[in-house]
Amino acid sequence: PQVREYNFDVKKVTLAPDGFSRRLWTVNGQFPGPPIVTFKNDQVKVKVTNNLGDQVTSIHWHGIRQIGTPWYDGSVGVTGCAIPNGKSLTYDFKTPDGGTYWWHSHHMAQYTDGLYGPFIVHDPDDPYLPYYDEEFTVILTDYHHDEISPNLGILDLPLGGGFREPSPDNGLINGRNNYNCTKAPAGSKCTPNAGYAKFKFERGKRYRLRLINTSAEALIFFSIDNHVLNIIEADGFYIKRQEAHRIPIHAGQRVSVIVVADQVADNFWMRGEIDTVCYFQPPVNLDPKFNAIVHYEGAKENVDPTTKPWTDALEDCMDLDPNTLQPLVLEPVPSPVGTSLTLFNIVHPNEKNQVRFYINNSSYVPDNDNPTINKVYNNYNLSTINPNQNLYTFNKPGEVIQILIQNLIGGEHPFHLHGHNFWVLGIGRNETYKEGVSTLNTRTAIKRDTAVVPSAGWLAIRFVADNPGAWMFHCHIEWHFQVGMVVQFLELPDLLKKLTQPPEARSLCP
Ligand code: C2O
Ligand code: CU
Repeated sequence: PQVREYNFDVKKVTLAPDGFSRRLWTVNGQFPGPPIVTFKNDQVKVKVTNNLGDQVTSIHWHGIRQIGTPWYDGSVGVTGCAIPNGKSLTYDFKTPDGGTYWWHSHHMAQYTDGLYGPFIVHDPDDPYLPYYDEEFTVILTDYHHDEISPNLGILDLPLGGGFREPSPDNGLINGRNNYNCTKAPAGSKCTPNAGYAKFKFERGKRYRLRLINTSAEALIFFSIDNHVLNIIEADGFYIKRQEAHRIPIHAGQRVSVIVVADQVADNFWMRGEIDTVCYFQPPVNLDPKFNAIVHYEGAKENVDPTTKPWTDALEDCMDLDPNTLQPLVLEPVPSPVGTSLTLFNIVHPNEKNQVRFYINNSSYVPDNDNPTINKVYNNYNLSTINPNQNLYTFNKPGEVIQILIQNLIGGEHPFHLHGHNFWVLGIGRNETYKEGVSTLNTRTAIKRDTAVVPSAGWLAIRFVADNPGAWMFHCHIEWHFQVGMVVQFLELPDLLKKLTQPPEARSLCP
């Protein structure tokens, strides 16, 4: 194992990735942010310095389990405090699992202002290594022209006719796409034909594409004209090779595909498409389709492809069906279940008539200056904790935890668990889970760290209580996160107390 060191200078810079000029929240001035690349079991040290000037910040390493280092998980109010202006924190943790991950700000919706990047963990024992020659990272995202984090008040809207999620203006692949500048508001700066991201293929070679959906909200359909996608990985978990033409990826999820460059030398569209059906109200003025170019060596330069899209129909707003994906290497589903927890999800207005999501009748409000982990170290009486902390405690080491989320409302939610990946036992669409009647896959379930709860339906997952810490479990649609669709699991507090919280992490708290 090696130590990989990075310096992250978090600052705002004005850029025009799609031709439209705006300030972006960046690391080292780059958008998307720089990739972190490690090998399995490496140690990573990332010195993050907050030079935003007027906002605190915190970085989360999405999918990295933080075994023994929960305070570096970056979830403000749960595992630590945010980094004040002008201050630094060196996150110092291991990358125990190979696969495709990402990092992003976990505060004030800053990632929707650009503060994110890929996190790739190479695995020398990756069973698919012999099956590809080269790899590319493909970051798919919805994209906003407005600054979101300074204006979070826009989410305090009444339910009913008034509520609309912030509407994306574009979709980007690796930070690029064209934008129709005639739609830009007067007084803004916009240059047409900003250009597409380009992936260079050599005929006969096999490419692994690591797809990452960094969206604030969008479910994205991904495809490459004339090319078959061989799905091999979902959120760091190897899948038995499965062919597809178009694949759905929800916010926070990652999927690797192997693509064989088996076409004659030409240019081909790589396509992303935002599924606008999933919005509370459809986005205004959005062209949901966005592109990049696959350019074969020897093909004409600087010409747009003329290829046609695959037309396979996909179900709206759902990720890859967990029932059709097979693990490449079976990781037996743990049993028997020790604790079974049902979370009921619903949306309704609060006393100020603002829209809030409630899980088991409580809408999460972060306690930013007194995070849960600190409460544990300070021997705070957790039985007196405010119900708006949505805290569930698991005390028994090795206990199997089963979580069922029952969605009492229409609309889908990609739920992400920190500190773990989990077995996806099943989903149900438009139905109530019924013990003994609804079927759970307890034999060949795949593992992920982000999975979709279907509309008015349910999602059942399992994991083992073996990672002391406090872990967020939340919808990765940033607007839903901001208005309370979050719970936290305090896992093995007694063992957590035996770990030594680094003074550096602790000193960020007031
Ligand atoms: Cu990708 Cu809690 O986050
Ligand atoms: Cu949601």
